[in-house]
Amino acid sequence: MARRAIDPSDGLIADIVGPWALEKHERLRKYIDAYRGARAMFLPPRGSGGAAFVDLFSGPGRSQRDDNGQFIDGSPLVAYRAALQSRTRFSDLHFNDIDADNVDALRQRIESLGGAAHFYNESAEKAVERVAYALDPSGLHFAFLDPYNLENLPFSIIQRLAKLPRMDMLIHVSVFDLQRNLRRYLDDGRVLDAFMPGWRDAVDPNRVDQAVRTDLLHYWLGLIRRLGTSPAEGIELVSATGGQRLYWLVFVSANELGRKLWGDISNVHVQGRLF
Ligand SMILES: C[S@@+](CC[C@H](N)C(=O)[O-])C[C@H]1O[C@@H](n2cnc3c(N)ncnc32)[C@H](O)[C@@H]1O
Repeated sequence: MARRAIDPSDGLIADIVGPWALEKHERLRKYIDAYRGARAMFLPPRGSGGAAFVDLFSGPGRSQRDDNGQFIDGSPLVAYRAALQSRTRFSDLHFNDIDADNVDALRQRIESLGGAAHFYNESAEKAVERVAYALDPSGLHFAFLDPYNLENLPFSIIQRLAKLPRMDMLIHVSVFDLQRNLRRYLDDGRVLDAFMPGWRDAVDPNRVDQAVRTDLLHYWLGLIRRLGTSPAEGIELVSATGGQRLYWLVFVSANELGRKLWGDISNVHVQGRLF
């Protein structure tokens, strides 16, 4: 289980995170602001279909930085406030976390901001079915996928979301997990079978670690592209303060405007590239 703190501002639980979480949230905030015009086209009075935000690994809504102790918003609150500030709210919010205490804390936080949301307390793999079913296929929706590790992000989740015609996704992939557990994942195979089905026929595990990692990630991006409507673009390295590679942010959108907006954002303060 993740380390926890109590946020003195509301007495509710918070995650402990590294400072690089700020960059992840900054990109999320910027994208939500950047596509406000597109969102408005699917909201009354201009349109219908809705514009939902989906966070399948939501956490409790607040975190404490492990470097300076500061409390910061988690992705659900970042997204909620960003939409509010852009004057183009989401039509619906869908938050899921496998941890019931996180869901409970987040529910209280959203309520205290005057918001309303759908809350789920299951594995993301299960929740995605109910969430996708609840979304209007004629809307423009946005999902943030932020698991701790590859194991929690089976490809079936991306596949299910990509069935919706206008579903943008921002996926936070733990490179650290792949780096640390590469040989174990290759030997056992089950995590990679779920994360990137078919990898055994596409990747040679006998190459050096770094090459295998790159091959695996290429293969995974290829799988996403093969979903047809959702080419993966805008890969962004999020590095820790020491320059260590920890995460990638991968943006997936079927929509040219979405990819352009993300391109504009991801080019600001780029610290490195995946390949
Ligand atoms: C990286 S944290 C999320 C942080 C949050 N998105 C933020 O930016 O504030 C990952 C979360 O996923 C939850 N989790 C772990 N396994 C899960 C699973 N299989 N399905 C759904 N949630 C899961 C954990 O309880 C944890 O809150």
